[in-house]
Amino acid sequence: MPFFFFFYLLFLYTLHRHALPTNAATAPDETAALLAIKSSLIDPLGALQNWKSNPGMPHCNWTGVQCDTKGTVIGLNLSNYNLSGTISDDILLLSNLSSLKICSNAFSDTLPAALTGLTSLKFLDVSVNNFDGQFPVGFGSFLQLTYLNASGNYFEGPLPADIGSANALEILDFRGGFFTGSIPASYRGLQKLKFLGLSGNKLTGTLPKELFELSSLEQLIIGYNEFEGPIPADIANLTKLQYLDMVVGNLNGPIPPEIGKLKMLNTIFLYKNSLGGDIPKEIGNLSSLVMLDLSVNMITGVIPPEIALLSNLQRLNLMSNRLKGTVPNGIGDLPQLEVLLLWNNSLTGPLPASLGKNSPLQWLDVSTNALSGEIPAGLCQGGNLTKLILFSNAFTGPIPVGLTTCMPLVRMRMHNNQLNGTVPGGFGKLPRLQRLELSGNELTGEIPDDISLSTSLSFIDLSRNQLQSRLPSCILSIPSLQSFMAADNELTGGVPGELQNCPSMSTLDLSNNRLEGTIPSSLASCARLVSLSLRNNHFTGSIPPSIAMMPTLSILDLSNNFLTGSIPSNFGSSPALEMLNLAYNNLSGPVPSTTLLRTINPDDLAGNPGLCGGVLPPCSGATGMLESPSGFRWADMRHVAAGWAIGFVIGFVIGLFREII
Ligand SMILES: *[C@@H]1O[C@H](CO)[C@@H](O)[C@H](O)[C@H]1NC(C)=O
Ligand SMILES: *[C@@H]1O[C@H](CO)[C@@H](O)[C@H](O)[C@H]1NC(C)=O
Ligand SMILES: *[C@@H]1O[C@H](CO)[C@@H](O)[C@H](O)[C@H]1NC(C)=O
Ligand SMILES: *[C@@H]1O[C@H](CO)[C@@H](O)[C@H](O)[C@H]1NC(C)=O
Ligand SMILES: *[C@@H]1O[C@H](CO)[C@@H](O)[C@H](O)[C@H]1NC(C)=O
Ligand SMILES: *[C@@H]1O[C@H](CO)[C@@H](O)[C@H](O)[C@H]1NC(C)=O
Ligand SMILES: *[C@@H]1O[C@H](CO)[C@@H](O)[C@H](O)[C@H]1NC(C)=O
Ligand SMILES: *[C@@H]1O[C@H](CO)[C@@H](O)[C@H](O)[C@H]1NC(C)=O
Ligand SMILES: *[C@@H]1O[C@H](CO)[C@@H](O)[C@H](O)[C@H]1NC(C)=O
Ligand SMILES: *[C@@H]1O[C@H](CO)[C@@H](O)[C@H](O)[C@H]1NC(C)=O
Ligand SMILES: *[C@@H]1O[C@H](CO)[C@@H](O)[C@H](O)[C@H]1NC(C)=O
Repeated sequence: MPFFFFFYLLFLYTLHRHALPTNAATAPDETAALLAIKSSLIDPLGALQNWKSNPGMPHCNWTGVQCDTKGTVIGLNLSNYNLSGTISDDILLLSNLSSLKICSNAFSDTLPAALTGLTSLKFLDVSVNNFDGQFPVGFGSFLQLTYLNASGNYFEGPLPADIGSANALEILDFRGGFFTGSIPASYRGLQKLKFLGLSGNKLTGTLPKELFELSSLEQLIIGYNEFEGPIPADIANLTKLQYLDMVVGNLNGPIPPEIGKLKMLNTIFLYKNSLGGDIPKEIGNLSSLVMLDLSVNMITGVIPPEIALLSNLQRLNLMSNRLKGTVPNGIGDLPQLEVLLLWNNSLTGPLPASLGKNSPLQWLDVSTNALSGEIPAGLCQGGNLTKLILFSNAFTGPIPVGLTTCMPLVRMRMHNNQLNGTVPGGFGKLPRLQRLELSGNELTGEIPDDISLSTSLSFIDLSRNQLQSRLPSCILSIPSLQSFMAADNELTGGVPGELQNCPSMSTLDLSNNRLEGTIPSSLASCARLVSLSLRNNHFTGSIPPSIAMMPTLSILDLSNNFLTGSIPSNFGSSPALEMLNLAYNNLSGPVPSTTLLRTINPDDLAGNPGLCGGVLPPCSGATGMLESPSGFRWADMRHVAAGWAIGFVIGFVIGLFREII
């Protein structure tokens, strides 16, 4: 086969020699070559429609064909046409071809053998196709090749070692494949390489020393592999490195302090490895650094104060490590800081008082630490804060008033702290605010009325505080509201009765308060309500029958109130209802024999001395008769009779219908 191939090349060469004398003469040959190439391509979109012999339309004008001034083809750009089929050897006839781009097509099988014959290529892009199998040997002899992009295919097996001889390469992109094994030592030959992309493969082993001999490297992207072992101190030799991505792997050991010598670095992404040790203070020397992400590792020690020297830093992600100590004050003065994510560590002390005052801070998440002190007043002073996430710390003092005018704010999650004072008014007027989570603090006073005006809030949790107000009258009618929780407070008054509409509400928890009055039957207009708890309040009156008909209600807890009257006869017939607790009220009469109530745990009906039947002692008993006024029983019987009659009529009509069909 190689023997034959040699003759074939010889043949092509002779052809070419014959064609050489004039440029005019080369053209027809290249036309023929292009037509031959087209004939082995499958072109479902007709992208190459204008590739046909036509004296008025020379081949240099054909789609994707690039010629030099003399009319010689020097580039083929066939990207994005959903082409498949094969690239035939005829391409070797384009002897001046220096650039071939076939990315984003539907080519499959192994890389066409013809490509390895195009040894004078400078630019080759075969990315985003369905090529598979091993990456062929041969490109090592492409001594002019500066760009090779084979990313986004299904190549497997080892990385081609001979590429190390293609020493003009500046960009080598093998990302997003199934390559296995290590990085070949031969790649040390790529002394002009600026970009090495190997991420998203199945590469293993330690990082080879040779990798750190690539002295021209500017971007090293090798994350999402299975590399293990330490990051060698030799990384300091990559003095031109700007972008370092070694995310999601099994790298361990400390971050070498030598990294501080890489003055050009603007990005360090090392998240999701098993790196340990302390953050080297030398990182403060990286004056160009814009992004630093060391999150989800096992890094210990304190955040070095030297980080405050990184005046270009925009994003600092250190979450899910084992950091302790305080957040260095200087971080509050980083002028470019946009994102600060420190959650899930063991940090203590206050946040820098100046945080947010001098930077376009957008996203602050320091949740799940042991931070204390007051929340800095100027967090939104830059006017860019969208996410403020402080939950599960020990913050004290008031909710900063400045936040109530923070227009971009989308999420404010401050639950499980020791915040005190009142909830300041204004959050209802923030046009983008969706989540307001203040539960588990020591807040007192009222729920501000303006919250009812919101058109954006979808989740409000004020539970476990000491709020003492009435519920603002329209709070349950916020159109976007899905969850409203205010359990475990000292709320008084009633549930607003004028509920015309609570279209989105799925969870309403007002348990453990001092709410009183009747349960408004208009609650049933909350057609998407899934969970309703009014447990442990002072509600009186009877259970509105409309509640039983709510189509999606699956959890209903009305226990520990002063509800009277009977359980509505259709209660428990909705198939959605799974959990019902009516214990410790003063309900009476027979327990309806609906599916749910027939199998309910008697504990969920306990503490209602007047209830009987079903899972409880039968109604015929003397006590049951005595405690139920006779008029009531008759009314109930009429209900049952009416229900039966309606059921009969419906059954009859359906039966009739069946007969007709
Ligand atoms: C072919 O391309 C050249 C240069 O772009 C242009 O001047 C010429 O008009 C084109 N001819 C046709 C037939 O499109
Ligand atoms: C290649 O062609 C695509 C359109 O198919 C175009 O978007 C792209 O800019 C071209 N690239 C070059 C280098 O000409
Ligand atoms: C591209 O080709 C594949 C088959 O090769 C086909 O399934 C797909 O629908 C095509 N896409 C477009 C945009 O033509
Ligand atoms: C085209 O290639 C031939 C042989 O490979 C070479 O002699 C010639 O100089 C090249 N022409 C151009 C314009 O590069
Ligand atoms: C390689 O190709 C992919 C997909 O076409 C592209 O996104 C990526 O930027 C290219 N790599 C380089 C280094 O140009
Ligand atoms: C890095 O540079 C140092 C000092 O020049 C040298 O001793 C070491 O061998 C180099 N490491 C690599 C991997 O080239
Ligand atoms: C690098 O940082 C260390 C510790 O912060 C410092 O002592 C040293 O002077 C810095 N080196 C350079 C070259 O800036
Ligand atoms: C918090 O970090 C620890 C390791 O420090 C990790 O095991 C845990 O999964 C993290 N928790 C979350 C919620 O990410
Ligand atoms: C911060 O907000 C200001 C004003 O809204 C805006 O001009 C600026 O682009 C924002 N900065 C960032 C980094 O988003
Ligand atoms: C809030 O708590 C702090 C101490 O934790 C206390 O000094 C302050 O008086 C409290 N403020 C209010 C309004 O209760
Ligand atoms: C329970 O209701 C009955 C009437 O049904 C009433 O006589 C009794 O006082 C009520 N008990 C309590 C504790 O409210």
